[in-house]
Amino acid sequence: MISFDQNTSTFKLDTKNTSYIIGMTSVGHLLHLYWGNKIDDVCEKDRFILIRHKNQSPMDPGLNMYSTNVAPMEYPTHGGADLRAPAFECVFDDGSAVPQPKYKGYKITEGKQPLNGLPCTYVEDGDKVQSLEIELVDEPKDLHIFLNYSVFEDYDIITRSVRVENRGPKCKLNACLSASVDIPEGRKYDFVHLDGCWGRERHVSRNPIFCGTQYVDMKNGCSGHYHTPFACFPEHNADENNGIVYGMGLMWSGDFIVGAQMDSYDTMRTFIGINSFGFGYTLETGDTFQSPEAVLVYSNHGLGEMSRRMHRIARQRICRGKFRDIERYALINNWEATYFDFTPEKIIAIADKAKEIGLDLLVLDDGWFGKRNNDRSSLGDWFVNTEKLPCGLDGLANEINKRGMKFGLWFEPEMISPKDCKLYEKHPEWALHIPGREPSLGRWQLTLDLSREDVCDYIIDSVSNILNSANIEYVKWDMNRYMSDVYSELLEPERQCEVKYRYMLGLYRVMDTITSRFPNILFESCAGGGGRFDLALLHYMPQTWTSDDSDAVERLYIQYGTSLCYPYSSMGAHVSVCPNHQVGRTTPLKMRGDVALPGQFGFELDLSKMTEEELAEAKAMLKQYKEMGAIFHRGDLYRIDNPFDSRFSSLNFVSEDKNTVVLCRYVVKAVPSCPYKFTKLQGLQPDVIYVNRENQNEYSGRFLMEVGIPWGYWKDHESQIIVFDKK
Ligand code: GLA
Repeated sequence: MISFDQNTSTFKLDTKNTSYIIGMTSVGHLLHLYWGNKIDDVCEKDRFILIRHKNQSPMDPGLNMYSTNVAPMEYPTHGGADLRAPAFECVFDDGSAVPQPKYKGYKITEGKQPLNGLPCTYVEDGDKVQSLEIELVDEPKDLHIFLNYSVFEDYDIITRSVRVENRGPKCKLNACLSASVDIPEGRKYDFVHLDGCWGRERHVSRNPIFCGTQYVDMKNGCSGHYHTPFACFPEHNADENNGIVYGMGLMWSGDFIVGAQMDSYDTMRTFIGINSFGFGYTLETGDTFQSPEAVLVYSNHGLGEMSRRMHRIARQRICRGKFRDIERYALINNWEATYFDFTPEKIIAIADKAKEIGLDLLVLDDGWFGKRNNDRSSLGDWFVNTEKLPCGLDGLANEINKRGMKFGLWFEPEMISPKDCKLYEKHPEWALHIPGREPSLGRWQLTLDLSREDVCDYIIDSVSNILNSANIEYVKWDMNRYMSDVYSELLEPERQCEVKYRYMLGLYRVMDTITSRFPNILFESCAGGGGRFDLALLHYMPQTWTSDDSDAVERLYIQYGTSLCYPYSSMGAHVSVCPNHQVGRTTPLKMRGDVALPGQFGFELDLSKMTEEELAEAKAMLKQYKEMGAIFHRGDLYRIDNPFDSRFSSLNFVSEDKNTVVLCRYVVKAVPSCPYKFTKLQGLQPDVIYVNRENQNEYSGRFLMEVGIPWGYWKDHESQIIVFDKK
């Protein structure tokens, strides 16, 4: 899988279907030679093609064969002859900023080591995984850069990360991206990324690559509503099933950058990593820095295959723990039903109906602690408000348990409210703020300084105390503002640009400790809806609340975009009331259910106000969910109609054993005299006969894929879920 060829001085990283090749020159530069369909041989001579640029480009010391400004560089650094976007920048003790890392050695090992303090992909017995570590050294300053690669052969995934060890005098890192890949003929590609804002997360944006730099990033300490740490680069004509696509995701929940720079020779330098804007990290002699891990995927069967590979690694080798492979809880959340205005009686009335329709768990959302009756107070005071809940959490959990249901609870552990908050009275210095200046509030709250150990310990203890105080079997871990006024009182001035990095290390320690301490609790992350949906958090919490916008039509767009990188098994999706609280739209209950069903399903409305007919419909939905959940969550996703460029949305899932196919389709906007249109399924076995579970109609896989199922004269927001079983 990973080999080093002495004759050609090349490293070859092979997955089942792809190859990634790194070459080494006689002066010790690492070149990126190839990433694409699997190939068998490496021809050394091809590298000399680079000679052609030697007269027009800046020259590196001692080189007359090529210039690093035109050569495809495996890990470009700033300050030398390569004038393009660097992956690595540092300033040495003498003020110079031109590292010249050269190849020193390599190590190939079986399996994969965890990253120090950071979430990453992992290996289980029987996995075909090997790792490569290439050591580069800047000799004059004794700075060592370790490029780490792991090849997940059966997953067609390569991961990359970078570790820096300073064995020389003090220096400061200003950039240390996780991956940079130079791809030829950049003009052929598009830049696809997911952008949005609160309530409208992860919409798909696709634009052709141009000569120059194009990127998206986050600068406010969070992986974000505005962008997500993922991008892909499809050929212009690549669609769901055809064409080359390079994809990259980052296991990081803070500031990031992902993008590409196309140079004047049409090389597209793609990159992903921690955003270097506002970042710096001082390394004393002996210190180490670890970058987050990037997950790289190449597909020559379009965006669909790229997503399926991302989904598989996310589901199976990023998510962990008891809930990774089992069907999770179908739940009722009281947020949109009551907001802060709840009583035990109201909650129990909802629970009674939830029990009636067969839900597994009730989540008590925001408002149960401190003096929190609106969003202006008490974050940080994690003790129950007994005025509101005289029975305590324990009493309420018991009532829910008596009804045969589990009980879950909302927290926002990373925050502190300046108002009505005992924690703030005691520890105002625990909030991120700049002494002598008034910090900006976001949703009336401040962010705790998780770069501090004492703050992290407080969170671990206070959350653990509550989790031990009642039979709590699910936690919604929220985070409702971006960072501002980033400054930590414990760090010296030159280290202030480390705060956001150290915050993430603190957060990961907190999450790791709490989720390991409570392995039987299902954790779902959330950030003002889907504001921190990233691969890193999935390592601790296998699902994320996808968006605060629960309108069925809006969700079609959000879930479609989200699915480019993240699996449906990670998307919290609930049925809410109409008119919808976010957009005022009214859609049929069936459509709301059909949209939420493929995700981690639940309800977010006052069940006690539903009519008997609606409750019966909700019950039937739940039955469907119990039958099909495993197919949605462990099967393969095929996107068919893209709501961004049609009035329809449809997708099908193929079960892990390939025996069942579920087609979900929706009318986003009906028009009169609707077009003559068929839904052509994907990913089926052409020669197998499939039976429609409802009407017993039989079709060959070939027929369903080539001819498809007609759309009727459908009205606005009609939807359908059809199950086909292999005969
Ligand atoms: C965020 C979440 C919501 C809800 C509220 C509670 O906005 O996304 O689902 O939990 O906080 O304040």
